[in-house]
Amino acid sequence: MSLPERVANRKIYLRAEQVPDDVRQFIVKMLTVQIQSEYADAPDRSGSVCPTAEDKAWVDFQIAQEKEHGLGVSLILRDMGVDPLPYIKEAESSVTVGERKLDYFRMRMEDWVERSMTRVLAERTGGIQSIGGLGASYVPLAVWHAKNYVDEALGHTAQGNKYAKRLVAEGRREECQKAIEKFYPSCLDIFGGVDTSNEKRYLELGVKTLSNNQSRLLWIKSLERDLKEISLEMPAALWKGNRREYPEESLAGTGLYLDASDVPAQVRPLIAKVVSGWVQSKYARQNEMAVFAAPTPEEKLAVAIQYRDDRKSGLHAARMLSALGVDPDPIADEAERTLTGGKHKVDFLKQPLPESWTDICLQQWIAARASQAASLATFGSCLVPLAVWSGIHYEGQEGIANQWLTRLEGLDRPSVREAGLRILGHWYPHALRVFGGDGSANEEAYCRAGIKTASNRQVRGIFVELLGRDAAALGLPMPGVSVARQAG
Ligand SMILES: [Fe+2]
Ligand SMILES: [Fe+2]
Repeated sequence: MSLPERVANRKIYLRAEQVPDDVRQFIVKMLTVQIQSEYADAPDRSGSVCPTAEDKAWVDFQIAQEKEHGLGVSLILRDMGVDPLPYIKEAESSVTVGERKLDYFRMRMEDWVERSMTRVLAERTGGIQSIGGLGASYVPLAVWHAKNYVDEALGHTAQGNKYAKRLVAEGRREECQKAIEKFYPSCLDIFGGVDTSNEKRYLELGVKTLSNNQSRLLWIKSLERDLKEISLEMPAALWKGNRREYPEESLAGTGLYLDASDVPAQVRPLIAKVVSGWVQSKYARQNEMAVFAAPTPEEKLAVAIQYRDDRKSGLHAARMLSALGVDPDPIADEAERTLTGGKHKVDFLKQPLPESWTDICLQQWIAARASQAASLATFGSCLVPLAVWSGIHYEGQEGIANQWLTRLEGLDRPSVREAGLRILGHWYPHALRVFGGDGSANEEAYCRAGIKTASNRQVRGIFVELLGRDAAALGLPMPGVSVARQAG
């Protein structure tokens, strides 16, 4: 069995200090442009032209999200040793100023129709550009892209589509069409040049996984699909920007599926298998008793909220299965009904939860770290919604693992140590098995189809590293190599 080259050579950096200098340099290059887009919504682009109170409120919601994206970019830049403030100040100073500001952001929007249609066009460029970053080697950057896709593609763009539909229904179709023609070329330009030396480096270094022109194609396809729904038209010159005319691009070359409906019949069962595993892990309910074991009303609420949010990612996975044509309900049901039932359930989740609060904190910490690391395998997956889910899920599990760790740090040290040795001894081998065997036919098939982007071994190694760091903070020794070997 052999893994595709891109999987065998896959780099995954969890922390800034692991990032090599050339990768760091290109991340900074990209993010100093991105940050000017996040802060480019100068005053003449906002609130005042919204026709209704609902729309005004929505703009505030959107602008808050842009600042969230901006903060995310700023945090990564700071991690990379770059002060984001001068870039932000410059972007905010006026519509036309900003050395790294894109042409599109220098154009003025005249009215509500233009504002609505730029949501359909330009907000979509933000979402689509994030697709090429979902498999970025620097994990915080990949996670940022996943969240950005949700906000820009599923939020801001979708809201734009709604507004456009409303405008067309009000008889303003011509004005909408005119706005499309006005902004389309500058949106095409947003994606950048073709076959540039910069672009080559971005791809080689794993900062991006799609070329500029491939991203441009995905944007065209996505826009085409939505405009058809609203009975608006694409411009005649599909590839003509203000800066130049771009060459046509093949969708097959991207290796991606924008939606479940685009997935070919032979790939569907494989993706469904991966997603079914996640559905069963989210509905296994092994952890349910933790709410009852939590010692205070504050902790009971905190744990219940954790499970509510965790189950939400189960719901999203279930919806993905539905979109793939598989009924998720029997799969969720099978996992939930009995401890040991569920043909997609991992062995880890078939073990009874321990009873004491300390033991539960330890077991749930291990579970969350395993789940966090396991989501790395589908970062940058061929099915865009799965790739996005993985980034969001990774961050959620990281947060949950940190919560359990904080609880453990607040408990009595000697009893955590006593319980820790026992719990790790029992659960660690099960956790190592969560990631699947090395060199199996399944692993190869997932990687060849582009569903998984990292090997089981690599992801398991990251889990061991994550857990080891926490264990050191807790003063706990990690189980010996023999345990790891036996389980691997
Ligand atoms: Fe944004
Ligand atoms: Fe946006």
